[in-house]
Amino acid sequence: MLWQALLRPIFFSLPAETAHYVSMGAFSGLCRYSPAGWLTSQICQSAPDPRLKNHVFGLDFPNPVGLAAGFDKDARWFDVLARLGFGHIEVGTLTGEPQLGNDKPRLFRLPLDRALLNRMGFNNGGSLGAVGRLKSLTRRSVVGVNIGKTKLVELENADGDYLKSFSVLFGLADYFTVNVSSPNTPGLRQLQNRDRLTALLQALQLRNQELAAQSKIVPRPILLKIAPDLNRDEVDDVLAICQDSKLAGIVAANTTIARTGLQTDAAQVERLGAGGISGAPLTNRALRLVSHIYRQTRGELPIIGVGGIMSGEDAWNMICAGASLVQVYTGFIYGGPLFASSLNRKISASLQRLGLDSIRNAIGSRSVSNATTEPWWV
Ligand SMILES: Cc1cc2nc3c(=O)[nH]c(=O)nc-3n(C[C@H](O)[C@H](O)[C@H](O)COP(=O)(O)O)c2cc1C
Repeated sequence: MLWQALLRPIFFSLPAETAHYVSMGAFSGLCRYSPAGWLTSQICQSAPDPRLKNHVFGLDFPNPVGLAAGFDKDARWFDVLARLGFGHIEVGTLTGEPQLGNDKPRLFRLPLDRALLNRMGFNNGGSLGAVGRLKSLTRRSVVGVNIGKTKLVELENADGDYLKSFSVLFGLADYFTVNVSSPNTPGLRQLQNRDRLTALLQALQLRNQELAAQSKIVPRPILLKIAPDLNRDEVDDVLAICQDSKLAGIVAANTTIARTGLQTDAAQVERLGAGGISGAPLTNRALRLVSHIYRQTRGELPIIGVGGIMSGEDAWNMICAGASLVQVYTGFIYGGPLFASSLNRKISASLQRLGLDSIRNAIGSRSVSNATTEPWWV
C-alpha cells in the first residue's frame, strides 16, 4: 500500500534510471544503518514455507522466486535484495571488460502496458571489478552470475571474453547464466546460431571441468538465457545444443524486440527508439515458450521462467507450465519491495488449495493442457 500510494508515484516522477539508483541507494542505506534491514527481513521472510524448497541443478533453493539479471549488474546491492525474500539473485550481466553501455536516456517506463523498454547495453564495471563484492557476500540467497560479451570485442573473439569472465568469477557463483540474447549489444543474438553456440558452450564446459579439477570443487551449473523472439525451429536447435553440451538448464526469456499488442501509442513507442520490452506484454509469450521447452525436453532440462511475471498468478502459471524457478524484474519495479514475498505467498496458497505438499508436484503440471500450436514469437 505504502509503495503503491506514496513511494511509487515519487520514484516514477523521476527518470527511470535515476529512480533505480536513488531508490536502491536509499534502501541500502536504510538497511545498513538502521533497524530497517532487520525489520525488512522479518516482514519479507517470515515463516518460510518448506513446500517451496527445491533442489534444482544441484543447488538448494529456499523458494522459487528469483531476481532477474540486469537489476543488480555489479553485485552492489545483493545483501539488501536478499532480505526481500528472493530465493536467488542473478547478478550481471558482467562482461570481460568494463563498459559504459549505451547513451542515456536508455530506460523508459510504459505504464499503460505495465512494461519497460530498455537499451542499457550491458553497462557494468567488468567481471574483475565484481570479484571483491562477490567475495564479501553473506550469501543469504543463491548467487547466479550472468555473463555476456564486451561490446568492443569482435563476435569471432566472443568465446575468449566469456571465458575470461567465467574464469575470474568461478568459485564465486553458485551457477552461471550465459547471456546470448540481449537485443542491446550489436550482433550478440547471432551467438544463438548453431555453430557459434556449440563452440561457445563447449569451450565454457571444458574450462568448467579444468577449473573444478584445479580447485577441487564440483563444476558450476551453466545455464543459457535465450530470446523470446526465436521461432520454434530455432528454439529446438538451441535445446538440442543445450542437451549435447550438458547444460544445467535454460533461462527463458530475455526482453523482446517485438512491439505487438502494446496499449501505448505506437508513435510514442517509436519515438523511444530501439530496445527490448519487458513486463506484461511478455507474459503470454514467455509462458508459451516455457511450456514448449518443457514439453520438448520432457521436463528433463530445468527451466527458469522469466518474462512478464506481474502477479502471483503469473508466477504460478509459469511453474505449472514447466518452470522449476521463476525470475522477475519489471514486476518488481511496478510491485515494490514486497513483490517477491507476495509471489511466494500466492504460490504457497495455490499448493495448499490443491493439497500439494511440494512445489515439485506443480512443475509442468499444466504444460500439456497449455499446449498450443499458437506461436509465441510473432
Ligand atoms: C532495465 C533492464 C535491464 C536488463 N538487463 C539485463 C542484463 O544485463 N542481462 C540479462 O540477461 N537480462 C537483462 N534484462 C532482462 C531481464 O533479466 C528479464 O529477462 C526481462 O526483463 C524479462 O523479465 P520481466 O518481464 O520480469 O522484466 C534487463 C531487463 C531490464 C528491464
